[in-house]
Amino acid sequence: MSGAKLDVLLGLQWGDEGKGKIVDVLAKDYRVVARFQGGPNAGHSLEFDDRKFVLHSIPSGIFNPETVNIIGSGVVLDPTIFREEVEELERAGVKDLKKRLCISRKTHLILPSHRALDAASEAAKGAGKIGSTLRGIGPCYMDKTGRNGLRVGDVELPDFMERYNRLRAKHEGILAQHAGDYPFAQWEDAWFRGIEKIREFTLVDSEAEVNGQLNQGISVLAEGAQGSMLDIDFGSYPFVTSSNTLCSGACSGLGIAPGRVGRVYGICKAYCTRVGAGPFPSELHDETGEKLRQLGHEFGATTGRERRCGWLDLVALRYAIMLNGVTDLILTKADVLSGFDTIRVVRAYRVDGVESETLPYTLEQDFEMVYDELPGWSEDLTGMTEYALLPQALRDYVSYLEEKTGVRVTIVSVGPDRKQTIARYPIGPDGSR
Ligand code: GDP
Ligand code: IMO
Ligand code: MG
Repeated sequence: MSGAKLDVLLGLQWGDEGKGKIVDVLAKDYRVVARFQGGPNAGHSLEFDDRKFVLHSIPSGIFNPETVNIIGSGVVLDPTIFREEVEELERAGVKDLKKRLCISRKTHLILPSHRALDAASEAAKGAGKIGSTLRGIGPCYMDKTGRNGLRVGDVELPDFMERYNRLRAKHEGILAQHAGDYPFAQWEDAWFRGIEKIREFTLVDSEAEVNGQLNQGISVLAEGAQGSMLDIDFGSYPFVTSSNTLCSGACSGLGIAPGRVGRVYGICKAYCTRVGAGPFPSELHDETGEKLRQLGHEFGATTGRERRCGWLDLVALRYAIMLNGVTDLILTKADVLSGFDTIRVVRAYRVDGVESETLPYTLEQDFEMVYDELPGWSEDLTGMTEYALLPQALRDYVSYLEEKTGVRVTIVSVGPDRKQTIARYPIGPDGSR
């Protein structure tokens, strides 16, 4: 296939691996960045020049003035949150937003009543609740697959209000069956102002747009949200999100043939976190877990909730690498591990005395973690800019991960800032940089 390849960047754990930061770093190598799934359940943080931003629906390439950003078809978009994000970026002085940000017509809209349904659904689950971000993600994707959804392109149709009211009425019927009061009408004014904001932007057919760019040899980076263990099909079901977070989701979410995929950057933290409910085999309930949370500032970028922490889980990581065909590993938050005498890594799970290095059908069981132990390091890494100058113990940890996964570690991230990024191999399309 001639033309450029679609490179994909995604999280390999339970989300919050540092995707926003790394997309921002890579954006200068790609002329286009496209989000392919998820919605404002995502919180992608990035920092540069002493400024910090958290993006929920807008791709993380937006701070590179040369990069065009696309909200792809596989995304679910909340107009209220979109408008707030756009206005925040405008206040921050980000230029040419309307030239550099476009939205796919096939992107589904999250309605105020979807948020109400999310709250009702979580309340009905009681103790079995998922710990959803309550952004209406699940109900919106349910309407998409149920073939009832409202899409961004519908805002251009003369009967948009009829379509809105039809779906709203359906939701009211469902909410009436739930105990509790879900007064979503109070959110509608802001939502319709969000629809007006969407109308100010260029709407595109992202499949034609992205394929057209690739055909012309223009480099495109697909930005994932959430993480592989939250994938609707292969994650820790039912404690997952409602979209395909895997590399294949970039193809279906943007309308790109699988053969077009080039590099697959898989991001993992040097340890592991999870926010929300559901099984997390390597979770630590002791002071080490608390230390990771404090040193890593592990509090959710979208909801502010405490993130659960544990050591890196190789069983889950290898599974995620297999599902995605990762070509390049990106290790983030290496700096957070400075000061631990010993670094532990889960090599296998033990159940009833039997060790296994492959992920079992259900994670909802009692596992004993089988650890490998590696020596730690004490140096502060946050000012380091060269791989060769990193502590030997960290470089040994990186080599250990490469040996255990069979994938090279291309970037080591040593702090939240754009500059705190150490590339060991060429990055960008075809390794251009
Ligand atoms: P995302 O959802 O994958 O984009 O990740 P989040 O933004 O939700 O969470 C990652 C957090 O870690 C953010 O606060 C980032 O600023 C921060 N971060 C990213 N990379 C590093 C790193 O290498 N070291 C440290 N200390 N923080 C980092
Ligand atoms: P980023 O892109 C971490 C989790 C929620 C919950 C489950 C389902 O920032 O990595 P949902 O709102 O989709 O119904 O929630 O998934 N979750 C995330 N956890 N990072 C995210 O996104 C997440 N998006 C959803 O906490 O357990
Ligand atoms: Mg996040």
